[in-house]
Amino acid sequence: MQETLIIEGQYPLYGTVRISGAKNAGLVIIAASIMADGETILDNVPHINDVDVMMHILDQMGVECHWNEDASLSICPPAGEIHKKTPYELAKRVRASNLFLGALLGRQNEATISMPGGCDIGTRPMDLHLKGAQALGAEVDIEHGYIYARAENPKGARVYLDFPSVGATENIMMMAAKTPGTSVIENAAKEPEIVDLANFINSMGGKVRGAGTDVIKVEGVPVLKAVRYAIIPDRIEAGTYMVAAAITGGEVQLENVIPTHVHPIIAKLQETGATITETDNGLIVKAGPRILPADIKTLPYPGFPTDMQSQMLALLSIAEGTSVVVENVFENRFQIVDEFKRMGAKIKVEGHSAVVEGHKNLFGARVKATDLRAGAGLVLMALAARGETVIEDACYIFRGYENIAEKLSNLGAHVK
Ligand code: EPZ
Repeated sequence: MQETLIIEGQYPLYGTVRISGAKNAGLVIIAASIMADGETILDNVPHINDVDVMMHILDQMGVECHWNEDASLSICPPAGEIHKKTPYELAKRVRASNLFLGALLGRQNEATISMPGGCDIGTRPMDLHLKGAQALGAEVDIEHGYIYARAENPKGARVYLDFPSVGATENIMMMAAKTPGTSVIENAAKEPEIVDLANFINSMGGKVRGAGTDVIKVEGVPVLKAVRYAIIPDRIEAGTYMVAAAITGGEVQLENVIPTHVHPIIAKLQETGATITETDNGLIVKAGPRILPADIKTLPYPGFPTDMQSQMLALLSIAEGTSVVVENVFENRFQIVDEFKRMGAKIKVEGHSAVVEGHKNLFGARVKATDLRAGAGLVLMALAARGETVIEDACYIFRGYENIAEKLSNLGAHVK
């Protein structure tokens, strides 16, 4: 069933928005929880489609999971082996299903993972994930769209990542957490979600050191115990609402934000003329009198996040001048530009760069979301554009943004 968001633009946003738990921390920690015996209870997990799909996958694998009255999520793996195969029908809908590779190898030295689908932001290989699993003793075969991994005699090892891949770092960390011996991940990803996963594993009795730096050391332990754990707030959802305040000329208070996680976004928004002040549990974004151009280069954390690239393209489309945006993480993450152009944006894509000629008169149109963050970019364009925008395939947006229509309406946007 096609889902559509309809937005009447040019209403400045005012008020307070509470940021939900981080999608990309929740998804990996849901996977990691199958390594513990007993009931894991997770707080602050967002109610979004991607979480629902991960729960269906758990269900198919014989792991009982359910939402509790207090909005926490319970995950109860059975005592014995769990079904090692992620179902293709569900796995192709969420790339994060590939995170069951490390969790299953960590739990039972065997995993069968459907080659992941997810957003079409470029081919999403798993070579680094498999390099890590093999280094720790797994035999890996790829047949009929499935990855078969089995470790007869897993042993800690040193793995160098050619690229600081978030998913590869997470899969290797999970497998290493229960692999006898010491493992070292070099050139590891440093995203806050990596640190959250390490903290979760350590709270279960694991021994992970150095998360957040480019060298992570993991001491394997025989048992991980089930715990109650609260995941971090979503820095990308926060960044999206920060841009919403700036692009509509409003003033929005965000609650439940860890400022250090959004420092790259704060820095860039200040460059475009917004004023940002930190509060005790979040921050306030006040739009400036003008929107100034700024150049952006996406990089692994702590560089500017690629997941905020489409959102910044929207803001820079109405800046007073020319901006250059370079996408260094994914090889194909400018598809949404064609939809932005339908709303009047003047953007020229050349390879990994987009040159944005900012101007004031964007107008509403019928557009289509191509992936989650591109969809967020369209929402921001629509909030700034004159007239009505109809965003088709809004289901992409609901994959990662909890209650987005309600949160925006509460801030004064005209959304349905
Ligand atoms: C995670 O994806 C996030 N998803 C993405 O967020 C995010 O954009 C990305 O990290 C980068 O920050 C989740 O955490 C569920 P990568 P992941 O492995 O782990 C290449 C969103 O909107 N690569 O760091 O898949 C890859 O092709 C999503 O929330 C290899 O070459 O990202 C890409 O160019 C979108 N070989 C680059 O690394 C590998 O084995 C970054 O990928 C793995 C990755």
